[in-house]
Amino acid sequence: MPFRDGGSDQCAFEMIASTQPPTEHLPSTPAGLDRAAELLAGGRLVAFPTETVYGLGADGRSGMAVADLYAAKGRPAFNPLIAHLADPEAARGEGHFDEHATKLAEAFWPGPLTLVVPQRENGRVCDLARAGLGTVGLRVPGLPLAHDLLARCGFPVVAPSANLSGRISPTSAEDVLGDLQGRIAAVVMGERTQVGLESTIVSCLEDGPRLLRPGGIPREAIEAVLGRSLPGASPSSGQPIAPGALSSHYAPHARVRLDVDAVRPGEALLAFGGARPRGFEAARDILDLSPGGNLAEAAANLFGYLRRLDATGVDAIAVTSIPNAGLGEAINDRLRRAAADR
Ligand code: TXA
Ligand code: MG
Repeated sequence: MPFRDGGSDQCAFEMIASTQPPTEHLPSTPAGLDRAAELLAGGRLVAFPTETVYGLGADGRSGMAVADLYAAKGRPAFNPLIAHLADPEAARGEGHFDEHATKLAEAFWPGPLTLVVPQRENGRVCDLARAGLGTVGLRVPGLPLAHDLLARCGFPVVAPSANLSGRISPTSAEDVLGDLQGRIAAVVMGERTQVGLESTIVSCLEDGPRLLRPGGIPREAIEAVLGRSLPGASPSSGQPIAPGALSSHYAPHARVRLDVDAVRPGEALLAFGGARPRGFEAARDILDLSPGGNLAEAAANLFGYLRRLDATGVDAIAVTSIPNAGLGEAINDRLRRAAADR
């Protein structure tokens, strides 16, 4: 994987950056969105906000654009991408929706839900974007700015989170530029994202609905709509279990230690709900994801706070425990990946 930490990667990064035109900073105005849509239609890469995280968009019909996208992210090409559409009707044109997918789309679109369904014969999302699978991941984002951009495009825009592969997902335009400035054509300069965690991914295939990735919509809300409990990805499906094929996925430079009851010398503290573990007075920095113990607030702050503590150059970040219910499942999933060996 290119562009992970390490000196020679930095060198490669600078060589590429110096040969690219500068990244355009587009305002979130009709003119800015027109320009973003024009660049995307021309096969260029444009980062844009959704309510979850910023995505790095490319024309999902174009194998060339998608190949450029994988290269810009330094992403392994076997990881399929989510196709974003302006509205549920457009999404239904790309995939076959069974009764479960139909119910979930009605309940949660537009919003932070991705549905993996069989691709239609005339579906436009190219093979490379689907990593050769017969299925397609579809999402109708809830952020009006994202809707307005997608409506201008009229084609599926594939978009992974707009960070270098293996790094923390971006929740602001500044985060995107920190990773991708000079490597992509443009960024739509929107607000900081409200949800702060990626979409929940549910597959609706022959073996029934399954939770592939916890995210912005809690499992409990999905189970309530379906009237049944959601198993995880089928181990026999042979599909990459999203996005866990890579266990170290949301990695700051600093080591991450979870469920701490004591802070070690030199560590920064990432707390939840006002928790103050032993030794906290000596922590290099302290950020609390939600002093009042609100999981939605913690989700919205998670990636930004990890980036802020990481930027101080601290060796390790100690994290207090977070309840696993509701959005806590997705928060704990991302924290475990950030803490995984790499
Ligand atoms: O909130 C989000 O979901 C953001 C915004 C930009 O939409 N996107 C995002 O994309 O998180 P990404 O590429 O970081 O994660 C997409 C995940 C991948 O882990 C991939 O495995 C899964 O979606 N996925 C996409 N299509 C799939 C398919 N056909 N079958 C199984 N998994 C799929
Ligand atoms: Mg990602």
